[in-house]
Amino acid sequence: MVLKINTLRAEEGLEFIGLTFDRYKYLVKHEEINRKTFYSIGARVDEKPIGLALCEIVSPEIAELRSIFVLPQYRQQGVARALLNKAESEGRQRGCSKLLVLYQDQGVDSEALAHLLKVNSYSPPEFSGLVCKSRDRGKILNAPFLKKSLLPPSCEVFLWKNLPQAERTFIKDRQKHSPWYPEILSPFSNEAEIEYLNSLGLRYRGEIAGWVITHRISKKTIRYTTSFVREDLQQYGFTAPLLIEAIKIHMASPESFVATDASFIIPASFEGMIAFAKKRMLPYLEESFTLYKCTKELK
Ligand SMILES: CC(C)(COP(=O)(O)OP(=O)(O)OC[C@H]1O[C@@H](n2cnc3c(N)ncnc32)[C@H](O)[C@@H]1OP(=O)(O)O)[C@@H](O)C(=O)NCCC(=O)NCCS
Repeated sequence: MVLKINTLRAEEGLEFIGLTFDRYKYLVKHEEINRKTFYSIGARVDEKPIGLALCEIVSPEIAELRSIFVLPQYRQQGVARALLNKAESEGRQRGCSKLLVLYQDQGVDSEALAHLLKVNSYSPPEFSGLVCKSRDRGKILNAPFLKKSLLPPSCEVFLWKNLPQAERTFIKDRQKHSPWYPEILSPFSNEAEIEYLNSLGLRYRGEIAGWVITHRISKKTIRYTTSFVREDLQQYGFTAPLLIEAIKIHMASPESFVATDASFIIPASFEGMIAFAKKRMLPYLEESFTLYKCTKELK
């Protein structure tokens, strides 16, 4: 087998679209491949695409491996290892000093990836968050938390699709002059796929103070991507109720609305939310996984 590994050019992207998960397919489209903060590595055998790694430059120093996939009949032959090596050298060339990999503890493929990272000198896996899934509007409909409304009258919840231009500018200007949210929680990433059904904003005493942004990652699934509430308000525990408002809208959507599944990712640093999810949400969800993080210095 003659294996060819290269950084993809924009026009090659679509040939590889079947080699990643639904939620990342948008990344191999032309305009994304040309983006400076993104790169993808392709593997071919006899010109046929057989493997793909997608990487996002999430800060000037850090590239993140978003997805790595090898066609089943070409597995266990070192293809993923070759893709990873190239992803590292490409990241280095683009000025990154670290490659970050996040993965779920789910099934044999995660074991393969964990092994691959270990033998390639990545840091030991570190708890990075909780991924929870609700399927087919199942058990969640009986969750007691959905029956409560917990936000005080000083808070106003609104649909993100109605965010006025002036507030959009306010969020961005404030971020530029005195950053008030971690970039990873920006409400403006991947705007093309935002699910406007239940993406919400929060105003506190009339000023924009938080958001829950969801994305439609497949026909059936809405991912609850980002929940953020202004730092000085976090002590009041507004984050969970805001998320609950979004879930309520989702679950109350008409029968004809096909996105009946929900996926939640709660970063380890949100200890309060993790505790809330474990106690109040997990008993009413169909699946949950631990998310691990490994990194490698790109010397
Ligand atoms: C994970 C995946 C990318 C590995 O691809 P691969 O080309 O088979 O991996 P490699 O052949 O380069 O193997 C790398 C190492 O992992 C080991 N490995 C591969 N599959 C394994 C498995 N199922 N269980 C345990 N170890 C495994 C290999 O033996 C090798 O280790 P070694 O060098 O010490 O022998 C592939 O299984 C896949 O595409 N899975 C589906 C997508 C996925 O789940 N991706 C990860 C989440 S983003």
